[in-house]
Amino acid sequence: MDNTPFVARRRRLLERMGAGVAVIPTAPEHIRNRDTHYPYRADSYFHYLTGFPEPEAVLVLVAGDAPRSILFCRERDAEKEIWDGYRHGPEGAREVFGFDATHPVKDLDVRLAELLADQPALWFSLGHDAAWDARIAATLNAVRAQSRSGKRAPAKIHDVRATLDEMRLVKDGHEVALLRRAAAIAAGAHRRAMGAAAPGRHEYELEAELLHEFRRHGCQYPAYPSIVAAGANACVLHYVDNAKRIADGELILIDAGGELDGYASDITRTFPANGRYTGPQADIYDLVLDAQSAAIAAIRPGATFMSPHEAAVKVLAQGMIDLRLLEGSVDGIIESEAYKRFYMHRTGHWMGIDVHDAGEYKAGEEWRELVPGMVLTVEPGCYVRPSDDVPEAFWNIGVRIEDDALVTAAGCEILTIDAPKKIADIETLMREAKRD
Ligand code: GLY
Ligand code: MN
Ligand code: MN
Repeated sequence: MDNTPFVARRRRLLERMGAGVAVIPTAPEHIRNRDTHYPYRADSYFHYLTGFPEPEAVLVLVAGDAPRSILFCRERDAEKEIWDGYRHGPEGAREVFGFDATHPVKDLDVRLAELLADQPALWFSLGHDAAWDARIAATLNAVRAQSRSGKRAPAKIHDVRATLDEMRLVKDGHEVALLRRAAAIAAGAHRRAMGAAAPGRHEYELEAELLHEFRRHGCQYPAYPSIVAAGANACVLHYVDNAKRIADGELILIDAGGELDGYASDITRTFPANGRYTGPQADIYDLVLDAQSAAIAAIRPGATFMSPHEAAVKVLAQGMIDLRLLEGSVDGIIESEAYKRFYMHRTGHWMGIDVHDAGEYKAGEEWRELVPGMVLTVEPGCYVRPSDDVPEAFWNIGVRIEDDALVTAAGCEILTIDAPKKIADIETLMREAKRD
């Protein structure tokens, strides 16, 4: 394990803190049913700073003249390791993960009270876990109880996640490499699902193709529950049943990405079950693709987070008029937000360790300016539910096209470029997959 990116991030956080003590616990384990647990995943902030994969661990950072990073973790345990696997233990963790000190997690409360005494500030994110809030309050009270011995508790509490959110918004080289790889794997998974699609198969069979491809290339999990939505299901934005038999003539919308070593990918492609788009399907599809091209062209340093959305909405509004989904002028449709009937979500979100990643979208009152190293999705769509006032040919067509973009000095790099999205490219891939 190369711990240098994690050590560097801890150092940067310590510099930003300036003074005080930060407490960053990892995620708890969660029971799924009876004695079976959900697969364990570390807390995203904790992962960003440590790379340490075990539960029951807490990072404590002491800023100031002699900055230190300290890990509290489980001790080694021969019996438990037979059942549940290897534990680094405090000594192993110090060396492998590059901490200045490590201690058994059972000693946390006592040691933390000592570390907090006479410090000006506590850096902790309140409100995410009631048990941790109570534990931290109790530790602060333990320090306050020593006031007659001359010990002072921190007078200030800062939200450490707010500082970390800013750091996580601009990815470092280690993160970009993982995001690139996660994106390439996810693109391969979409190609595989397109190749396997056919009328008569079930949505879950295509989901299985995605999972197969994620896992065989090392992704530990899907980055979020995969959406495989055929026909009218494509108009349900968070459809995850994936249970329907796919019919001839339907479009299939797949929104799926893998998570690799803690980093997400997030791709949507929409393609015909039988390998050929119908005329009306192609009309909506090409409109969404044009909107996406406009959005991608709007991503560059100095543009704002909303620039791609505004570019996409302009194209979609014109297209909705041309296809007789809406009446009126582009400006009028944008002003009245009438387009939201067919395009009701935003064109993107930050992406990184979390698929909807950390980071504020506004700086003060203004939408945030893009800077190199930010990663965001570009995902316009158009979803037409049956209604007497829209042409029947478009009923139940739902299209979304989603890519992941890294902001660069020159504009952006599309990390998910290997998933085909031009109609001709998709139809060729599907035709060739059937011949094999
Ligand atoms: N798959 C979640 C999203 O596209 O935001
Ligand atoms: Mn998505
Ligand atoms: Mn997305």
